[in-house]
Amino acid sequence: MKNIAIFASGSGTNAENIARYFAGSKTVNVAVVLSNNKKVKVHERVNRLGIPSFAFTRDEFAEGKPVIDKLAGYKVDLIVLAGFMNKIPDTLLKAFPGKIINIHPALLPKYGGKGMYGMHVHEAVTGAGEKESGITIHYINEQYDEGEIIFQATCPVLPSDAPEDVAAKVHALEYEHYPPVIERLLTGR
Ligand code: GAR
Repeated sequence: MKNIAIFASGSGTNAENIARYFAGSKTVNVAVVLSNNKKVKVHERVNRLGIPSFAFTRDEFAEGKPVIDKLAGYKVDLIVLAGFMNKIPDTLLKAFPGKIINIHPALLPKYGGKGMYGMHVHEAVTGAGEKESGITIHYINEQYDEGEIIFQATCPVLPSDAPEDVAAKVHALEYEHYPPVIERLLTGR
């Protein structure tokens, strides 16, 4: 059994979707969810499914050790960022080399980097008159949104689309593709 930890900062619909996908799996277990905010909805979403969740302060995340110790307690094989808005500190990168992945709500290398998260991304995409957007699943390295790309999928952007419309299309792609990509990475299937 491979254990994953999901990091999420907000609503956590992706975290819940991943947890539901692996509920009952014999190969992948969502062991724990970590957040940088104790008040956000992701806790309720995953606790309902029997998955423990914890919140760490910005300083604890930046230091790394409290987070690494918590992950060690769950024998985590892969860290899955799903709407996690904090930078991953070097200590955590070194403790989990090549074992941290992220989903970005656009087609990297476009619309990545500092400040490009959540609705800001979709506002930039519609503002630039792009004809398509999508998702990028990638490894995390020291730079924002620059790690090796694992998977991309696209969706059309219509001239009449508001940022919220693009967000809905991108979320649908995330729900469809993130869990099976995680499964493939961990099991080769
Ligand atoms: C998702 O669209 C995810 O791709 C994005 O935040 C949203 C979280 O939604 N992540 C980033 O922008 C990271 N740079 P959720 O909380 O409902 O899963």
